[in-house]
Amino acid sequence: MQKPNTTPYYNLSLKLIVAIAVVTLLAIMGGTMIGIRYQEKALLFSGLLFVCLTAFLCILIIKWVNRPLSKLLEGIRGIGKEDYEKGVWAHQNDEMGHLVKAIDEIAEEIGESRTKLKRQRIEYQNLFEEVPCIITVQDRDYKLISYNREFAEKFDPKPGDYCYYAYKGRHEKCVVCPVEKTFEDGRSHTSEETGFGKDGALTHWIVRTTPVKNDKGEIIAAMEMNIDITQVKQLEEELRRSEKKYYEIFNNIPNPVFVLDVEDLTILDCNESAKSVCGFDRNETLQKSFLELFQREERELYGTKLRTAALINNAKQINKTGENLYVNIRISPSEYHDQKVLLVTTSDITKLLEAEQQLIQASKMATLGEMATGVAHELNQPLSVIKTASSFFMKKVMKKEKIEDNIIMELSKEMDSHVDRATKIITHMRQFGRKSDMTSERVRVNEVLQKAFEIFSQQLKLREIEIEWQTEDSPLEIMADNIQLEQVFINLLINARDAIEEHAKVNPDSDMNKKIILKTASAEDRIIIEVCDTGIGMSEAVREKIFEPFFTTKGVGKGTGLGLSITYGIVQNHDGTIKAVSREREGTCFILTFPAAGAQ
Ligand SMILES: Nc1ncnc2c1ncn2[C@@H]1O[C@H](COP(=O)(O)OP(=O)(O)OP(=O)(O)O)[C@@H](O)[C@H]1O
Ligand SMILES: [Mg+2]
Repeated sequence: MQKPNTTPYYNLSLKLIVAIAVVTLLAIMGGTMIGIRYQEKALLFSGLLFVCLTAFLCILIIKWVNRPLSKLLEGIRGIGKEDYEKGVWAHQNDEMGHLVKAIDEIAEEIGESRTKLKRQRIEYQNLFEEVPCIITVQDRDYKLISYNREFAEKFDPKPGDYCYYAYKGRHEKCVVCPVEKTFEDGRSHTSEETGFGKDGALTHWIVRTTPVKNDKGEIIAAMEMNIDITQVKQLEEELRRSEKKYYEIFNNIPNPVFVLDVEDLTILDCNESAKSVCGFDRNETLQKSFLELFQREERELYGTKLRTAALINNAKQINKTGENLYVNIRISPSEYHDQKVLLVTTSDITKLLEAEQQLIQASKMATLGEMATGVAHELNQPLSVIKTASSFFMKKVMKKEKIEDNIIMELSKEMDSHVDRATKIITHMRQFGRKSDMTSERVRVNEVLQKAFEIFSQQLKLREIEIEWQTEDSPLEIMADNIQLEQVFINLLINARDAIEEHAKVNPDSDMNKKIILKTASAEDRIIIEVCDTGIGMSEAVREKIFEPFFTTKGVGKGTGLGLSITYGIVQNHDGTIKAVSREREGTCFILTFPAAGAQ
């Protein structure tokens, strides 16, 4: 606060009183000199005293009342004009001084709050202008009272524009107007608006309206705040379209696709093809365990496989009507709605497998034909034993000769064992020839190889082909279809027989070694089986084609060229491998490997 400078004023007043006193004294002294009387002198002195006292009083009034009052007035006027800096200076310590001080303090406080208010106003104004959304304030006629810079830049409004014209170039109020609602119920409203902007482009906004009230609580205007969400909407639309596209692709994949929970294998989603293959509606399948599509006793096995393997071949499933279906399953880990899942695709191979089974069956029939000679010879032996024994009994009976008990016992035993042998051969042939679904059970490789050889041994003996066994003693178990595995070994044995025969035919004079070597072994978690021969061997060109269907080097009527392609299919179905190592005129080795049972 400025302290007013009063010194010149006091000096002037004092000078004035002194001047009056001097003039009066001079007048008295002049009067004495010109002979004024005592009474007149006293009167003059009293007059002089009165003038001086009056002057002095005036000075005092001016100094202590008038002057502070005018200062006070000046200060109050200053406050009225928002000049809080100047203030009101109080130089007295009396009531007036206190009053002035109080007013001064009030002025100071008002000044401070005014400054604060101003600062806040500027802040709000900045906020209003800089906020990255459109703000307008409208009266009850939807006329724009004020708006921020964003709105001005975007819509270039003219003074007095109506909201609907400024925003959309309309000449009348919009049908749905959130501002109208706010004026109606005095509340804030939020809505999503879509319309064409002034440039004709489709625009989307989120609109929030708030009432603006006066001191009496009456709504005098409405504030509308708009956030342009056109870009967000466009992205949403793009996302929706792309999601739809991918969902359509997902649904139209001809193979069933399942999305499984990685932990409990619950079906979280599946495509339409799942219904056509499994028979279950999408809704029936959802939240069901994928394992329910397998036979109860195989669920645990498939549960483990699904969690560990990337591919499962020839999995047996059951459809809604309880029929078996065979599928190859591909599993890939993935993410679905931020959740770790397994993406499982199945391909229905039931028909393929059926056709394959028919082919295998046909091939088995052909093999049975091949075996006929050997089997006839095999059956001949027990039959002749029985014939001999029965003839012996008949003769003895006709001659009425007594047969010793021990002889009866001996011959009966012999006949019994030969009947057993014949039964075994016939049962084996019937089993082999029987049409059956593919099964998977623990089988001992050595036993199957032995069986295949037995049914066939007679033929080899007749052709003087020696068999060399190099089998490992341990059980060597694999998971397989017994009959199909036997079919594989028989195919290889027949081929080995033919190759040896061919070799012998080409070199009739040579003293060649006619031998088939059958080896079995285990290595890590696989079982290895080798069928080697000392046959004609193969050229590289032949070796490359041997697994192709209908490829044969045998004469018309001798070979169909299906043996090895069927063998290949069976081995594949058992997760096995097969390859041929061959040298022309030296021989061939077929090497097969299968996963050991328990290692799968
Ligand atoms: N052990 C082998 N030694 C030499 N060649 C072989 C041997 N095994 C197969 N081959 C060759 O592979 C071809 C295909 O064999 P595959 O068993 O598929 O048919 P195939 O024996 O000719 O007729 P089939 O349908 O009666 O078996 C044979 O024709 C033969 O040329
Ligand atoms: Mg063959």
